[in-house]
Amino acid sequence: MNDRPRSRSAPFQRRLWLFSFILGFLAACQMASFKTPTAFPPPSPTQISTMTPTLLSDISSMNARLGRGVNLSALEAPNEGEWGVILQAEYFQKIAAAGFTSVRLPVRFSAHASVEPPYTISPDFLARVDWAVQQALENNLAIVIDMHHYLEMMSEPVQQKERFLALWAQIAEHYRDYPPEVMFELLNEPNQALTASLWNEIIAEALTVIRRTNPTRPMIVGPVNWNAHDSLVDLRLPQNDQYLIVTFHYYLPFPFTHQGAEWVEGSDAWLGTTWNGSAEEQQAIQADFAEVAAWAREENRPIYLGEFGAYQKADMASRQRWTNFVARQAEANGFSWSYWEFCAGFGIYDPRQHTWRTDLLQALLPTSMP
Ligand code: BGC
Repeated sequence: MNDRPRSRSAPFQRRLWLFSFILGFLAACQMASFKTPTAFPPPSPTQISTMTPTLLSDISSMNARLGRGVNLSALEAPNEGEWGVILQAEYFQKIAAAGFTSVRLPVRFSAHASVEPPYTISPDFLARVDWAVQQALENNLAIVIDMHHYLEMMSEPVQQKERFLALWAQIAEHYRDYPPEVMFELLNEPNQALTASLWNEIIAEALTVIRRTNPTRPMIVGPVNWNAHDSLVDLRLPQNDQYLIVTFHYYLPFPFTHQGAEWVEGSDAWLGTTWNGSAEEQQAIQADFAEVAAWAREENRPIYLGEFGAYQKADMASRQRWTNFVARQAEANGFSWSYWEFCAGFGIYDPRQHTWRTDLLQALLPTSMP
């Protein structure tokens, strides 16, 4: 890459913090006045006001600051570019100009750190993450640094725990002076051997480590079973930590969103599955989101729908309907959201033509077009 970042001085960081704080506040205020979507009923003014920030230091306001986002996939491949995407400065500019307020950055830290103590993260790789973070902040986008595809944590969590905690200690130290618009997501989609009871213990231990250097950093944590909404009931969070945002991922009906997905065995049989927005189809999603909202009220935690999307092999009209409906339902329930993803297999942007897939963009942001 010819536009690699350089490390930044503390005064620069402070200025950047102040700058992004002010811009962030203005953007967050603006979010409260977003216009109504087209195909499905818009959220009511009361629902919108639940997303309106009062003070940025408050965790619900920080969740509102995430607002409407998109996953920028690239650094979750074993090496950037291996899955077809290399991050470009232009992507951040376009995402912001289209009207998104945040990006989620999936990062495979585990592929760029020593496997022996002290498990040092490669400085070059960390500098690349810094570059992405800086691009986001310069474009007034909040950014979620998400630990993604740590596959060994899923297969042997007990053996990997020490390394996982050491990675977080380094990341937390590195970003400790960054503004609150830089948020951490503990681990994407815990699954397999990472059972609910084990995951709950690891969450508590990881938060103890991270809070030493980042006492008020917005932290995003989700349930086991690939962040499934119906596993929220198994999630136990430290009661005294007031800076947590809870995430879930939504890809239902799975045979629709993952038809023909190369990484899902048997999914070719689902090709041709449509999503028509029938009353029954809508109600299924509404019921799932109502469950999440009820959990959130009970637990008093803000919710971030960190991934949702339909693969490119589904027909575009169905993808547009489903994407619009899910995004509007998230908003109606006061959830921030991040579409999966920008310019790969679920992409809303064509990186070869440098153009938006406007059907999908409009489904996400009905009133804002570049
Ligand atoms: C995975 C991606 C996958 C997506 C949809 C993400 O969490 O990391 O590899 O494409 O979910 O299945």
